[in-house]
Amino acid sequence: MSMWAGQFDAAPNELVAEMGSSIHYDKRLYKHDILGSKAHARMLARQHIIPESDATAIVDGLDQVQREIEQGHFEWKPILEDVHMNIEKRLTDIIGAPGARLHSGRSRNDQVATDLRLYLRDEVDFIRQRIVNVQTSLVTLAKDHTSTILPGFTHLQHAQPIVLAHYLLAYSEMFERDLGRIKDWKARMNYLPLGSGALAGTTLPLDREFVAKELGFAGVCTNSLDAVSDRDFAIELVSLCSIVMMHLSRLSEDIIFWMSQETAWVQLGNEFCTGSSLMPQKKNPDMCELTRGKTARVFGDLTTVLTIMKGIPLAYNRDMQEDKEPIFDAIDTVKLVLAVYAPMIATMRVDKERMYQAASDPALMATDLAEWLVEQGVPFRDAHHRVRDLVTYSKTNSISLDRLTLDQIKISVPEANEECLNLWKPEQSVAKRNIVGGTAPEQAIFQIRTKWGHLLEQ
Ligand code: ARG
Repeated sequence: MSMWAGQFDAAPNELVAEMGSSIHYDKRLYKHDILGSKAHARMLARQHIIPESDATAIVDGLDQVQREIEQGHFEWKPILEDVHMNIEKRLTDIIGAPGARLHSGRSRNDQVATDLRLYLRDEVDFIRQRIVNVQTSLVTLAKDHTSTILPGFTHLQHAQPIVLAHYLLAYSEMFERDLGRIKDWKARMNYLPLGSGALAGTTLPLDREFVAKELGFAGVCTNSLDAVSDRDFAIELVSLCSIVMMHLSRLSEDIIFWMSQETAWVQLGNEFCTGSSLMPQKKNPDMCELTRGKTARVFGDLTTVLTIMKGIPLAYNRDMQEDKEPIFDAIDTVKLVLAVYAPMIATMRVDKERMYQAASDPALMATDLAEWLVEQGVPFRDAHHRVRDLVTYSKTNSISLDRLTLDQIKISVPEANEECLNLWKPEQSVAKRNIVGGTAPEQAIFQIRTKWGHLLEQ
C-alpha cells in the first residue's frame, strides 16, 4: 500500500507509482541514510524529544535493516517511493511504535539533502585517490623519459621539440588542480542540512550541532530554505568531474594519435586494447576512445542537473528527485575511467627512436635561430622576419635548414656565423630551454624530484 493511502481519494495508479519511484537508483544512499537517521535518533533522545529506549530500539533496528540490505534479503518496494521511506517502513515493521518517532522534526527534504552530501563526501575520496593513482603512473613514466624527445604541437602542426616527461607532467599539473578543486569543494559543502525540516525549520528543540559533529560536518546550514533546496554542491561536484573527464579525454586524444600508424610513437598494453572482429591486424585504443565518449556523458550529466535546477521556485520541488541519476552517473563514470587509466598508462611503451626522428626536422628549430639572433642584439620581430625568409629559401630550394651553407644562410640572415650551423639538433633545442617551466630535461628532473617525488615513494 502506498504511504498516501487514505489521504487522497483515488488509489494511486501503477503509472504514478512508476513515475514517482526513485528506489531503483536512490537505494545506493542506504548506508548514509541509516547513518543520518541514527545520529538524528540519538539527538532526539538527548533532547528528551523521544525516550532513550526508543532511540536505542531505532538504532538497533536500523542496524538490522542495514544487515538485511547488505545480505541481500531486503525487499525494496517501488510503491514506497524512495530509499528513505523503504528504510523507515521496514524499521517500523521490525521495532513497532518507536519507529514512528524517528521522523520527528525531520522531512525527507532535509533528509535527502543530508544523505546526498554524506554520500558524495565519501565518493569524492575514491575519486581523489584515483586521480593520485593516475598522477603516479604519469610521473613514473615521466621519470624514464626525461630525455625522450618528440615534436610538440600547436594547431596539430609540428612546433618545437619537447621531452616526453614535460608532456606527461603537464597532465600531472592539471590533475593537481583537479585535486585542489576537490579540496575547495569539500570545504564549501561540508555543512549539515538536517534540522531544516521541510523548508522552515522546526518547532522542536533539535540540537543540530550535535548531529553535525556526529556526522563529521564542519557545522550546520544556516538557512533552512537554502539547505533543503540547494543542489549547487552536487552541480559543483559534477562540474569538477567534467573537468577531470575533459583532461582525460584530451590525453586520450593524443594517445590515440600516437598509436596511429601515422606516428606509431607509443603502444598500450594489449589488455587495454581490442582487436577487430573482421580485420585481423587491428589493435585499437578503445579505452581511450571510450574515455572521450564517456566525457560527453558526464558533460550531459552536468547539463541535466543545471537544467533541473534553473527554473524551480524555492524551496523543494519534486523535480529535484531527478538530480540523482545524472549525479551518480557522473561519479560512476569518472571513477571507472580513472581506475582504468592508471594501470593503462603504466603499460605505455614508447618508441623513442621514431619520436626522435619526428622531432629532428630542423624546421622545428627555426625559433632557436630567431632567439639566437635576439641574443646578438637583433629585435625579435626582425629576427622572426629573417628566419621566415630563410625557411622559405630552404623550402624553395629543397635544402633542409641544417644543410644550408653559411653563405646561403647569410642571404636571409646577415648576422649569421658558424654557431648557426649547430642549432639544428633537437636535444640541444630542449636542453637550452632550461628555464622554470621549460622543456629542458634538467627541468623535468628537477620537477620530478621537488614536486612529484612523493608520488614515486609510495
Ligand atoms: N525522493 C525524494 C527526492 O529525492 C526525497 C524528497 C521527497 N520530498 C518530498 N516532499 N516529496 O527528492
